[in-house]
Amino acid sequence: MRAIAERFIKNTDFTEDEFRMLVECAEDPEAAELLTQEAVRIRKKHYGDKVYIRGLIEFTNYCRNDCGYCGIRRGNLHARRYRLTKEEILECCARGYELGFRTFVLQGGEDRWFTDERMADIIRSIRASYPGCAITLSIGERSYESYRLLKEAGADRYLLRHETADEEHYGKLHPSEMSLAVRKMCLYDLKLLGYQVGAGFMVGSPGQTADCLAKDLLFLKELRPHMVGIGPFVPHHDTRFAQEKAGSVELTLFLLSVIRILLPKVLLPATTALGTMDPQGREKGLQAGANVVMPNLSPRKNRKQYELYDNKICTGEEAAECLECLARRVEQAGYHLCSGRGDALQE
Ligand code: SAM
Ligand code: FES
Repeated sequence: MRAIAERFIKNTDFTEDEFRMLVECAEDPEAAELLTQEAVRIRKKHYGDKVYIRGLIEFTNYCRNDCGYCGIRRGNLHARRYRLTKEEILECCARGYELGFRTFVLQGGEDRWFTDERMADIIRSIRASYPGCAITLSIGERSYESYRLLKEAGADRYLLRHETADEEHYGKLHPSEMSLAVRKMCLYDLKLLGYQVGAGFMVGSPGQTADCLAKDLLFLKELRPHMVGIGPFVPHHDTRFAQEKAGSVELTLFLLSVIRILLPKVLLPATTALGTMDPQGREKGLQAGANVVMPNLSPRKNRKQYELYDNKICTGEEAAECLECLARRVEQAGYHLCSGRGDALQE
């Protein structure tokens, strides 16, 4: 297994079969260690010890989709729904700016109430108040025209995980009206429009195999996104996957290293799901090649309601108010929090 890890470090131009063999190296501590060391070397070469921060504003938990794994899917009648007003969103930005955030991530379910006009109005207001800040959207699948309007209004980046690049697996996780083809088309549309684009997937989602992960890596290699969000799958009690096992922290860390080597300059967050599964998860993520953290800037009163999975952390040190504690933890892990937009480096 060491041999395939060494080969990947020399040349990442792998086929699907080779990626599958690489994924299987996660079982081999020696091969995994080799990949981690190389990932850290690459992240230090491009980003030094810098860790970028993004202020996450979860502005609506209404969603028209019914993704099998997700706690805020349309079919979950137990979810207490909320949507922030434009004023509340702007207050989050103001608080975030004070705290030192220079990127705001507006994330939500696919909520039709937020039409292009309403979204564009919010984006324009943020842009006018904070001309030096980056605006990232994470609001799911929309039309090319919608993405174009939102870009024109001032959005810079877009996060849309592909979730899994295996057709059959995609079908198991999602309702029949959703498709991997549409998801991929959205990602290519966003790229074409000049957004900095983030793809990604859950690790250990129900039915995922090494073959699925090989397809994920192949798709990332083909798309070449600026950002990649991966985190362990965590079950939610009100979904059909409630009894499934959560994804593994070790495999997530392994894949973070692989992705850092595959896409050397990529912006790679140590995600909340990783921090939920392991109290040291985000620090471990940074030590495996991640270079971004996304503290929660949503209003405290709504944080519990954006419950994508059980026990999602939202009021401890991952919260934006606790930036000082986070900064200390990041220092202890050997890195340094950095305010600034933290745009993707040019290829
Ligand atoms: N609606 C937007 C979208 O679909 O891109 C953004 C919100 S969506 C909740 C954000 C991400 O949460 C998804 O891409 C998914 O990977 C992740 N997620 C949802 N349920 C999860 C679970 N049970 N465990 C881990 N991650 C989950
Ligand atoms: Fe829409 Fe999860 S199903 S955000």
